[in-house]
Amino acid sequence: MVIKTADFICSNTQISRLPLPLKPEYAFIGRSNVGKSSLINMLTQKKGLAKTSQTPGKTQLINHFLVNDNWYIVDLPGYGYARTSKSNKEDWNKFIRTYLDKRESLQCVMVLIDSRLDPQKIDLEFCNWLGEKGLSFVTVFTKADKQGSIKTDQSVAKFRRALLGYFEEAPPYFVTSSETMMGRDEVLGFIDDINKN
Ligand code: GTP
Ligand code: MG
Repeated sequence: MVIKTADFICSNTQISRLPLPLKPEYAFIGRSNVGKSSLINMLTQKKGLAKTSQTPGKTQLINHFLVNDNWYIVDLPGYGYARTSKSNKEDWNKFIRTYLDKRESLQCVMVLIDSRLDPQKIDLEFCNWLGEKGLSFVTVFTKADKQGSIKTDQSVAKFRRALLGYFEEAPPYFVTSSETMMGRDEVLGFIDDINKN
């Protein structure tokens, strides 16, 4: 898919103020600092479109970006940020989970996983929750440039094996790097296929 335009539309803390659900939408979610905003900038080839930071907890709102006037990328706040308060975490949970569960135009949840780590309980539980809600999702492994491909393949295999504790089949997956653009064509091709159907 050729990205002709990618524009910031709005940031929201209220479900009632989201754009009308009239275009297909893809939500990017994962642990704080996993690389969601960087991946969005890499996919759109627009540096600074989504705000990135070395400090976890940068993205605090539901951010809508319109691509090619045709579909939305949604940047979500990260989960599992240790330094936020318990009530903040609960608010996050309620807000994001309501959005994911109720958003009728949501086509697929892109769950980002740090390719350097062993399977994390919080990621597995989140995937399980998506499955329970019947939401379609894929796993997107991030920061593959930070290690050799053998190490990445091993941790991808471990995560997929761990998912089989919850699912009969592991969902599709992508290996990406926002530094090298690895995985860009694959992720955009996947989205394009859904948009065409
Ligand atoms: P929150 O919004 O805080 O939840 O974080 P996020 O998931 O949006 O992460 P963000 O894109 O802000 O990236 C976090 C840090 O990881 C930044 O310092 C990025 O430069 C770095 N980073 C993200 N993706 C990659 C990648 O593919 N390779 C490398 N080397 N660094 C990355
Ligand atoms: Mg972010």
